[in-house]
Amino acid sequence: METGKTFYITTPIYYPSDNLHIGHAYTTVAADAMARYKRLTGYDVRFLTGSDEHGQKIERAAREKGQTPKEYVDRIVAGFQHLWRSLNISNDDFIRTTEDRHKRVVQQIFQQLYDQGDIYKAGYEGWYCTPCETFWTEGRLAEGNCPDCGRPVELVREESYFFKMSKYAHRLLKHIEDNPDFIQPVSRRNEMVSFIKSGLEDLCVSRTTFDWGIPVPFDKKHVIYVWVDALTNYISALGFGRDNDSLYLRYWPADIHLMAKDIVRFHTVIWPIILMAAGLPLPRQVVGHGFLLLEGGKMSKSKGNVIDPLVLIDKYGVDAVRYYLLREMPPGIDVYYSEEALVHRVNQDLANDLGNLFNRSCAMANKYFQGELQAPGAPEGPDEELLELAAETPPMVEELMERRDPASALAAILRLVGRANKYLEETAPWTLAKDPEKKDRLYTVLYNVAEVLRLATVMITPFTPGLPPRAWPLLGLEDRPDLHTWASLKWGGIPAGTVLKKGEPLFPRIDTASLGDE
Ligand code: ME8
Ligand code: MG
Repeated sequence: METGKTFYITTPIYYPSDNLHIGHAYTTVAADAMARYKRLTGYDVRFLTGSDEHGQKIERAAREKGQTPKEYVDRIVAGFQHLWRSLNISNDDFIRTTEDRHKRVVQQIFQQLYDQGDIYKAGYEGWYCTPCETFWTEGRLAEGNCPDCGRPVELVREESYFFKMSKYAHRLLKHIEDNPDFIQPVSRRNEMVSFIKSGLEDLCVSRTTFDWGIPVPFDKKHVIYVWVDALTNYISALGFGRDNDSLYLRYWPADIHLMAKDIVRFHTVIWPIILMAAGLPLPRQVVGHGFLLLEGGKMSKSKGNVIDPLVLIDKYGVDAVRYYLLREMPPGIDVYYSEEALVHRVNQDLANDLGNLFNRSCAMANKYFQGELQAPGAPEGPDEELLELAAETPPMVEELMERRDPASALAAILRLVGRANKYLEETAPWTLAKDPEKKDRLYTVLYNVAEVLRLATVMITPFTPGLPPRAWPLLGLEDRPDLHTWASLKWGGIPAGTVLKKGEPLFPRIDTASLGDE
């Protein structure tokens, strides 16, 4: 077994009640950027996503289409997998809760909690929000509706199994207080602390009025509550409790469970308590980002106001879509989606700033000296500031990624690119080229800009993995993988004699006419 540092990151397992939209795409792309970043910095990474296929909501959606739940989810889940391939997602595994490898683990844990007395049988009477798959007591309802989504709830009155959550409330609160990074950002942590302090009731963890779920192992009339089923995916996918649990031993506890704020409560209350009760370590961090909103509120399948990421990928390319999503979502904040903002952002950053720096540098190097770089002279004038920023940027990006802030990490990378564009104006290679005495200075200036391009290309790799394969040949570095690594982010990597190519623009401007009549 390898001894390297490990990093385990997960997305939610989405409901295949309908196709995914750009909101789901954001979470998965953000997790992908974090996974790729960690791989690039030398970690042994495990990146998991999947589908949450049981429950009343799915059963109803299937029935409406006149299909069995399994037929229904098979088709939609194939769509998830197609979307993730189209978005260049580098997940190591895809877990479906209808797989045996998952079901067995859920039953095993349920049995253990029952055997040790943490699950007991009682009568349940209360309210249920099917779209959220959430039980609510009368007192928590908001004007009779679900306090999370505002939709009507249904009365549920049945014999159920209950999980003794209340017994663990104190331990959970202490864990949250002792581990300030456990729930991020801090606004999410505060919400959860007050939620727990307002009192945790025992949780109803089985249903008898429908059967699309995992049976309670010792009482087959009951199916296990879909959230208990779903949360367990994070360890069932690692082979927990199986003959071969080497992945579990290697990667658990997870470093990050990433999601939007809608389901932070399930991940910071129910999941940690299940793990505590089972005697297992808790995940290191739960990160709750904001929502992508559309005019009229949160995008939702049931409201029908959704944006299909596949349409955007077709129109603008996968790197444009990834870049927009990652650059525009600050930690924890809701953001309005707009196609105009996408086009503007991508044109500004990728076409104008990064793309033009490539085009100008490669074109000038070819015009003035057939592209062949020479070793730079000692820094002078504006070189100092450029080199300083080039040295500061990688550790800044590292810190921002540790703060789970890919938007600011991208901003930092583009700040360096912008500084290099300004440097070209300051040093004016087109003027230097006219004076044979300034030949050395000309070489130095274009070397420095090429080196910034190399650093920017390495750093942007986790975010827009489709760009570097086009950028490396322009820099004449396609056969130098050693200069593509995070460890190579030190000034002066490009060897003298490297030949810059003049090629297709790295990132062509999007014609704003494509926005149509919006
Ligand atoms: O909750 N903006 O699945 P789900 C940003 N199956 N992110 C959004 C979003 C938006 N408008 N809409 C959805 C479930 N998301 C459960 C999860 S995990 C053990 C079980 C993303 O299909 C975001 O990550 O409703 C959110 O938390 C998730 O999709 C909810 O997906
Ligand atoms: Mg949802």
